Amino acid sequence: MLPRVSPRAFLRLSQAVTVLVVLNVASGAAVRLTGSGLGCPDWPTCSRRHVTPALSFHPLMEFSNRMVVVVLVVAIAVTAVAALARRERRRDLVWLSWGLVAGVLAEAVAGAVVVYTKLNPYVVMGHFFVGMGLLALAWVLAMRAGGPGGRGVAKVGRADRRLAWGLVAVLALAIAAGTATTGAGPDGGSPNAVRLPVPLDDMARTHSLIVIALGCMLLVLLYRLFRDRAPESVQHRGHVLLGALVVQGLVGYTQFFAHLPPGLVEVHEIGAAVVVVATLWFVDGLYHRGAPGPGDAPGLSARVATAGEAGPAAAAGAPAVGGLAGAGVAAGHAPGEAATAHDVPDHGRPAQGAPMSGRTAEPTR
Ligand code: HEM
Repeated sequence: MLPRVSPRAFLRLSQAVTVLVVLNVASGAAVRLTGSGLGCPDWPTCSRRHVTPALSFHPLMEFSNRMVVVVLVVAIAVTAVAALARRERRRDLVWLSWGLVAGVLAEAVAGAVVVYTKLNPYVVMGHFFVGMGLLALAWVLAMRAGGPGGRGVAKVGRADRRLAWGLVAVLALAIAAGTATTGAGPDGGSPNAVRLPVPLDDMARTHSLIVIALGCMLLVLLYRLFRDRAPESVQHRGHVLLGALVVQGLVGYTQFFAHLPPGLVEVHEIGAAVVVVATLWFVDGLYHRGAPGPGDAPGLSARVATAGEAGPAAAAGAPAVGGLAGAGVAAGHAPGEAATAHDVPDHGRPAQGAPMSGRTAEPTR
């Protein structure tokens, strides 16, 4: 029989996992940028004869990174068990926690393949990408664990939500292009590492163009949210995301024109993690979870549903569900677009006679 875990303790665990994943991204980057990628030429032992590293810089760097992964694996295992033992067990938290278990195992296997293939750039790209996926899962878990659970009710119109989910997709593309830029550049983790057969300038240009497209999409979305008087918290999160994107973009250009100084590249990689967190936080903020508050329930429900969006369920009073985990992970719906019965119509404009205040619902966290 497992001891019961309080929701607060579970929240702390999930937050600790998020911090550890960011640490993992940062220490992995440090390994590459110091050329310590093959400091431990074997896996899971450091070298064929020794579990621990020799007392010199590169082996110690690589081994420290592995130790962060060990702590992360333990923390994730504890979190997954805690999700089952949590008082008021929640299906979404269980799914996300066990998703983290699968993710960290995939990350460990990818790490081993990186070593065995002697830093093959495609494998290194995959390794980094899985790491970012792990961060996304951990952060969604932490956000969900801090909230009341239940299905998400949209605070903004469908077109805005689509645009927001589009941001997530384009961000994934930007990160993939970023890893390819690294793969084409000098920071391969070892002077002998094979590089991608693409000029660094071309890859950096592609990467930055995708980032510029991302910025344009966000500006359009922010304009729409402002025009339609979306809830202040939604706009606030959007502005924070814009700030994170601008800073990350400036760091990106600076490091490129400064010929990739390792310190700045490290900042850029941690910045990528911050942008992922800010983007998911923004998207999560588009949904209200828990029992609708007095100000928002009617405004978000059938009275504003348009003929185009309201299905038969509208009449039955089913809520529009979505958000990052109410979204699909647990409930079996596609992220953010699971149901539309109580959706806010496009532009979040209330139907005739419905007051705008109905759209200023804040999530109860
Ligand atoms: C939202 C903005 C951005 C994000 C999320 C982002 C993300 C990333 C990621 C994930 C990597 C790969 C890290 C790795 O594989 O270890 C990367 C590398 C890189 N990025 Fe960005 N990036 C952004 C903006 C920019 C911009 C505007 C530029 C301008 C040229 C830029 C230039 C580079 C360069 C040169 C690299 C290769 C660094 C190296 O040698 O390791 N990035 N970026």
